[in-house]
Amino acid sequence: MATLAAAGNPQVRNAEVHRPPPTGPCALVIFGITGDLSRRLLLPALYNLARQQILSDNFAIVGFASSEIDEQALRDSLAADLRETAGPAADTSIIEWLVSRIHYVALNFLEDAGWQTLRQALSTVDNAYRTGGNYLFYLATAPQFFLAITTRLTAEGLMDDSGGRWRRVIIEKPFGHDLESARALNRALLTVVRDDQIYRIDHYLGKETVQNILVFRFANGIFEPIWNRRYIDHVQITVAEKAGVGRRGRYYDRTGALRDMVPNHLVQLLALTAMEPPGSFSANALQNEEVKVLESVQPIHPDECAACVVRGQYTGGVLGGVPVPGYREEPFVDPQSTTETFVALKFAVDNWRWAGVPFYLRTGKRLRERNSEIVIQFRNAPLALFRRSGASLPQPNSLVIGIQPQENILLEFEGKVPGPAIETATVDMHFDYRQYFGAENRTGYETLLYDAIIGDPSLFKRADMIEAGWAVVQPILDAWAMGRGGNLYEYQPGSDGPEAADDLIRRDGRSWSPLSL
Ligand code: BG6
Repeated sequence: MATLAAAGNPQVRNAEVHRPPPTGPCALVIFGITGDLSRRLLLPALYNLARQQILSDNFAIVGFASSEIDEQALRDSLAADLRETAGPAADTSIIEWLVSRIHYVALNFLEDAGWQTLRQALSTVDNAYRTGGNYLFYLATAPQFFLAITTRLTAEGLMDDSGGRWRRVIIEKPFGHDLESARALNRALLTVVRDDQIYRIDHYLGKETVQNILVFRFANGIFEPIWNRRYIDHVQITVAEKAGVGRRGRYYDRTGALRDMVPNHLVQLLALTAMEPPGSFSANALQNEEVKVLESVQPIHPDECAACVVRGQYTGGVLGGVPVPGYREEPFVDPQSTTETFVALKFAVDNWRWAGVPFYLRTGKRLRERNSEIVIQFRNAPLALFRRSGASLPQPNSLVIGIQPQENILLEFEGKVPGPAIETATVDMHFDYRQYFGAENRTGYETLLYDAIIGDPSLFKRADMIEAGWAVVQPILDAWAMGRGGNLYEYQPGSDGPEAADDLIRRDGRSWSPLSL
C-alpha cells in the first residue's frame, strides 16, 4: 500500500502514490479477541486502515473468546488501548467508528453452544452492516485449536462460499512444531477447506522493509548483476531482540528460538534475499521461487551440527542499568530449562547463484539491541592498490538492509580521507525509509489484513512454503534430539549472544556485523 505521506515529499520522485480502493463488505471474526495479538497488533492495524479510509462501511468485527466480559466493557477497553497506541495524534472519531462495530461472543469455542451464538451474531451483523455474508476468520488462538476451529467452521457451513460470497481463514504461527506436524496440519486442513481459503500468516511479510527487498532487487537494474557468488562473499541475517521472553514462557519454553523464529521469519528473509527473479509478480510466481531457493538450502548433517549451529540461553544480569532475570527465572519457565533463547546458524545454498557463499543467521532475545538487518558482504577488491601509499587495507563493501527498528539501506564503501596522503576510510550512502516516505505508525498487519479481505494471497504462505521452512531446520532438530551439537551456551543480557556464535563465523575468517545501532 503506497504511503500518502510520500506524495508531499519533493525527494520522492517517480512515485505512483494512490490510495488503494476500499475493501468490499465483510465481517472479520477474531478468535481470541481479548488476547495480546489482537489488542497490540490487529486492532491498531484496523484503526490504521480505517484512518486511511480503505475499510468498507459495510465492515464489522465479531470477537470470540472465553473471557467473561460484557460487550461494552470490551469496546471501552479496546478503545482505551487504541488511544494509547495512537498517542496524541489519535483520531477519536475513527476509534469510535471501529469499536462500535465490535460484537463480542463470550464463549468457549470448543463447546456447541458457542457456535450457535456465533452464527446468530453473524446473522445480526450481516443484516446490520450488509456484509454480504463475506467472512474472514482470524485464528489468533493457541495453535492446538487451529484445526479444531477450522473443522468446526466448515461443519457449521461457515466456510461455504457458494453464491458469490467469500469465506477465508487466517492461520497464525506456529504452524506445526516440526516438519511432520506441519505437513500433518496442512493435510488435515485441506480435508476441511480449500487451499485458496487458507491464509497462513508470517507477519514479517507485512513489514514494508521486508517487502522492499523484492523491490530493491527487482525494480533496479544495478544490483541483480552483482547479486551472486562472483561478487558476494557471504550474507548475514540477524533478528536481534532486546526484550526477554516476558510472559510467554509457557509457549516459549516448549518452542525455543530455533522453532520460534527460524523456519518462518528468518527463512523468509533468506528466501527473499536469495531467490531467483520471478517471471511475474503474481503470488504463484513469487512463491514458486521462494520454495525453490529454500529447497536448495543444504541440510545440515548431524556431524556438522556442532560446527554450524550454536544454541544459547540468557542468564540474569543488568540491562540498561536495570536488573533483569535470567531465562530460567522468567514466569512459566522450567527453572532447569535447557530451551535456547538464541541460535546462530550457517547454511549453504546449493545452487548456481550461491554455491560457496555462506548464509549466517542469528536470532535471540535479551541481546544488546533490537536490531534486524540483512548484510550482504561483497568480495574484496581484487587488488589492494593503495597499500603501498600507506593507506590501511580497504574494507570489503557491504550493503546493509535495515529491517527494524532502523528502516534503511546502507551501502558501505571506501572513500579518500581529505589530505595530501592517500588514506582511505569506510563511508556510506544511506537511504532512510522514514525520511523519504514519512514515519507512519504501522504495525505490519495493515497490508496483511487488507490483502486477506480483498483476496490477494501474495504475502501469505502456501503449504509448500511452510514445509520448506521446516525442512531447513528439521535436520538440526533431529541432530539435537540425537544429542549431537546441541550444547547450550550461556550469554549475558545486553551482549551479542554467546562467544560460541562469534567462533562459528570467526572460524571462516569473518565476523558478525555489530549489533549496536
Ligand atoms: C514472533 C515470535 O513470531 O515474532 C516472538 O513468536 C518474537 O518470539 C516476534 O518476539 C518478533 O517479531 P517482531 O515483529 O517484533 O520482530
